[in-house]
Amino acid sequence: MPPILFAANWKMHHGPVQAEAFAREFRELTFPSPDRELWFFPPAVSIGVLADAFRSRPDIRIGCQDVHWEAAGAFTGALSIPMVEEAGASAALVGHSERRHVFGETDADTGKKVTSLLKAGFRAMLCVGETLVEREAGKTEAVVLRQLNAGLGAVAPGDWPYVLVAYEPVWAIGTGRNATPDDAAAVHGVIREWIIAHGGPADVRILYGGSVKAGNVLALVSREGIDGVLVGGASLTPDGWAEIVGIGETTGLS
Ligand code: PGA
Repeated sequence: MPPILFAANWKMHHGPVQAEAFAREFRELTFPSPDRELWFFPPAVSIGVLADAFRSRPDIRIGCQDVHWEAAGAFTGALSIPMVEEAGASAALVGHSERRHVFGETDADTGKKVTSLLKAGFRAMLCVGETLVEREAGKTEAVVLRQLNAGLGAVAPGDWPYVLVAYEPVWAIGTGRNATPDDAAAVHGVIREWIIAHGGPADVRILYGGSVKAGNVLALVSREGIDGVLVGGASLTPDGWAEIVGIGETTGLS
């Protein structure tokens, strides 16, 4: 069984000083375990600090919350893949709902970012998910398929091992309302079918995100087809995040 992936999306929280303090405490609270992988997506200014602090932890990978598809140039405020790689990142989120809805990132942008990330040997985690209005209008599947086509439609056969998808219904992000394991598993099934139909392997990792916390994480990751979780608010304290990533350890999950 592949390891369960626990990914922390810190959003705009924890600059270098707080990130360093977090890492120091977190290292004391957790230990590497072969059945789990831990990824952190801190603000870009904290990538270097986390990469240093977790250098001795083969179970931990650091990623960037967003990147530009160009390697350099006149793009004020943007970060290129080679830069974040230098800082210690080897993965990136693409198309997080806040990038799409707050900053106007388009479907076409996500495709360009995924292509550049894969070319650079990064892991690309494409985030997809419908809004409440779209869900209530019965458009969940259509929206997710549109986002997959735009984001992953150009993935080359050899690059699939570097691709991940996070299904994050927009109505569940930061709202306390999470999709049930049944809701999530149904959409994960749609995503997996799309990947297979587009030449990808059945084992591409698909994570769930949206109000994941200690009380609901076990039910989600125990479900077949849910390969991990992408967690915002509940990943911000070392003890809270350690509790989540250690969930089920004593009960022999997986
Ligand atoms: P949340 O955020 O866990 O705070 O709902 C998840 C995300 O946006 O990735």
